[in-house]
Amino acid sequence: MILETDRLLLREIQISDLDALLIVLGDVESMRYYPKPFDREMVQKWIERHRCNYAQHGVGLWAMVLKATGKVIGDCGLVWQEVEGRKELEIGYHVRRDQQMQGYATEAAYACQDYAFNVLGCDHVISLIRPENIPSRRVAEKNGLKVVQEILWRDIPHYIYAVQRSESKLLATSNFSEAEKSTRRV
Ligand SMILES: CC(C)(COP(=O)(O)OP(=O)(O)OC[C@H]1O[C@@H](n2cnc3c(N)ncnc32)[C@H](O)[C@@H]1OP(=O)(O)O)[C@@H](O)C(=O)NCCC(=O)NCCS
Repeated sequence: MILETDRLLLREIQISDLDALLIVLGDVESMRYYPKPFDREMVQKWIERHRCNYAQHGVGLWAMVLKATGKVIGDCGLVWQEVEGRKELEIGYHVRRDQQMQGYATEAAYACQDYAFNVLGCDHVISLIRPENIPSRRVAEKNGLKVVQEILWRDIPHYIYAVQRSESKLLATSNFSEAEKSTRRV
């Protein structure tokens, strides 16, 4: 296990999570801002890529497990991306459609922000989001990220959302006590 929040656990993804993640990443409606929904083979390659990320960088997208049921309902985590010639740490997330709109992505992404600032010592984190992806933008905005640039990312217009450690909502809490209360780093 990497992180724990009030309602969620984030842990490394395993190949046995394939069926659960196919429901998340293969959903035509949820994945409408991606070139196409993932098929089984794409999910398998995606899992292998993130397992390589864990080995090489110590981070990657992690399985999002609902504590109440023990079921994988999505993923959230940290991925190093090459953006405009810079290495940037991105917070990413996907939630199963029937579990959306309950604040899970925001809760998990907030825990990842805490991890990036207070475990990895990063001075900022980003999220790359298509302008029309309103749910994803809302998640970023609720966690204090702001649009800093519009770029072509893999030939598609994207906003770079970012938050500096010094401006993070985590710092607005007294000595991180609120963040530490709701997020347990393991
Ligand atoms: C983006 C995503 C992870 C959000 O997951 P979630 O658990 O539903 O997120 P939350 O519940 O924490 O917050 C969603 C917010 O978006 C808002 N939202 C969702 N659909 C919306 C719409 N059509 N119009 C306006 N706001 C919308 C919700 O109201 C909520 O904001 P609020 O708390 O201010 O009301 C989920 O929609 C998803 O998996 N999308 C597909 C994958 C994806 O696009 N990932 C991001 C790539 S950049």
